[in-house]
Amino acid sequence: MKIAPSILSCDFSRLGEEIRAVEAGGADWIHVDVMDGHFVPNITIGPVITKGARRSTDLPLDVHLMIESPEEYLESFVEAGATFITIHVEACRNLTDTLDRIHSLGVKAGVAINPETPLEEIGRVLRQLDLLVIMSVNPGFGGQGYIPGSTEKVAAARSLLDRQNSSAELEVDGGVGASNAADLQSAGASVLVAGSAVYRHPEGPGAGVRTIREALIS
Ligand code: DX5
Ligand code: ZN
Repeated sequence: MKIAPSILSCDFSRLGEEIRAVEAGGADWIHVDVMDGHFVPNITIGPVITKGARRSTDLPLDVHLMIESPEEYLESFVEAGATFITIHVEACRNLTDTLDRIHSLGVKAGVAINPETPLEEIGRVLRQLDLLVIMSVNPGFGGQGYIPGSTEKVAAARSLLDRQNSSAELEVDGGVGASNAADLQSAGASVLVAGSAVYRHPEGPGAGVRTIREALIS
């Protein structure tokens, strides 16, 4: 199981230190939440901060684009150092072409799906995916409560991927922490994103990552 702390909840005045703290705690990827104030009602990180994150670590950067017309910004995030670029099924006019473009730029391609969007929407692009992201909150803000039905959706996504013999990573994003990590592991997730559970941990972000790791079934 991979743990991908979301820097959305970190102290941006100390971005490098905050990233190195989760790396020391055993983080596998760094999750970068990009929001445009249109697709979601919040504005967050862009390519400049993504580049700052890239210079702070060698871990894979998992760039989650919660933006409209993501196809217009792919090059910027590739240049900034993204390892994975994830677009939203709800935000993209031509999913197949955009995923091809991401691959042709030399990075891995992901699709994220909102809580209300049925899994069937991604059936046609399943073969193109390196990463499938099941949103377990409505995107827009860190620190929201986990939507309970999401665990069943993760399990359904796991069977879908297995049926296609897909080796894509299955990530869960939103409201994830030590209390639901083992359930998500049993449901077949391979990557857990955690923002507030990591960066708001009373003993610091490194302990936040370790606490989630300890909650997993070994
Ligand atoms: C939600 C973001 C998530 C979120 C994770 O819009 O995509 O990555 O910030 O933060 P927590 O773990 O606090 O829900
Ligand atoms: Zn995210």
